[in-house]
Amino acid sequence: MSTSLHIDNTLTKAERYKALVPQIQSLVAGETNLIANLANVSAALKEAFDFWWVGFYLVDGDQLVLGPFQGPVACTRLSRQRGVCAHAWVNKTTVNVPDVDAFPGHIACSSASKSEIVVPLIGMDGEVWGVLDVDSDKLNDFDNHDVAALEEIVNLISRP
Ligand code: SME
Repeated sequence: MSTSLHIDNTLTKAERYKALVPQIQSLVAGETNLIANLANVSAALKEAFDFWWVGFYLVDGDQLVLGPFQGPVACTRLSRQRGVCAHAWVNKTTVNVPDVDAFPGHIACSSASKSEIVVPLIGMDGEVWGVLDVDSDKLNDFDNHDVAALEEIVNLISRP
């Protein structure tokens, strides 16, 4: 297994995702430790795209608790009632927010975050067990390429 990423930063976003997905697949293949895999997936996404914040929240009862991430320190616990992560969790769907200030109930862990995408991690039982949260310091930074590729990436992560 290679422990370095090979991403050409002159490529388009779609091309970078195309190069990244098999590398993430190879990083997580054969490793059953969830924390190790979540840590490497957040690091790979941060390195490939230099997003402001990339990380995971894991379902803990009626809350989401902070998991492995890359970026500034963040809120430790999120409720099921409010925020973008909660919305993705409760509705079992990816949420793409072009302007976080326009999302009712958005939780600002950092004032630098301007747009955000959250992808739910759904287990074999059909229940959400966590979310991938990616924040950008630019408005409207996520498009359908991000939605499709991030959904593909979370599908590579299995819950042991
Ligand atoms: N903005 C998220 C909270 C998590 S931070 O962005 C890392 C939300 O509204 O759920």
